[in-house]
Amino acid sequence: MLKWKENLSIGVADIDDQHMEIFRRINSLLSAMKDGRGENELAKVTAFLEEYVETHFAAEEELMNKIDYPDTELHVAMHNTFKEEMHDIIDEIKTNGVNKALVIKTNSRLGLWWIDHINKVDKKIGVYNNKQ
Ligand SMILES: [Fe+2]
Repeated sequence: MLKWKENLSIGVADIDDQHMEIFRRINSLLSAMKDGRGENELAKVTAFLEEYVETHFAAEEELMNKIDYPDTELHVAMHNTFKEEMHDIIDEIKTNGVNKALVIKTNSRLGLWWIDHINKVDKKIGVYNNKQ
C-alpha cells in the first residue's frame, strides 16, 4: 500500500492533492487485487485509476507549459511510458486474472513508481514554479 508523507509535497497544492488522490486510487486497486474481488470490481477500480492518471498528467503538463518549464519534453515522455505500462498491466489483469506475482508487479510499477517520480522529477517542477 502506498502511504502519503509530508516530504512528498512538491510545494504546489493542486498537484499535491492530485498525488494524494492517485495514492488512494492505487490503493483501491491493490486492495481489490489482494482481496480477490471479481472481474466487475477490478474493471471499476482500474478504470477509476486510469481516468485520474489522465487528468493528473494533463494538469501537470499544463502547469509545465504555463511556467515554461525547461524539461517538459522529457517529463512528458516519462508520463507516457507510465501510461503504457499501466495499460499493459491492466490488460494483464483483465486477460489472466490476478496472481501474487501480478500484485507485486502492480505495487512496484504502478505504485512505488510514484514515490520515485515525485521525489526525482515532480519536485523539480515545484522548485522551478516557486522561483517564478
Ligand atoms: Fe510528473
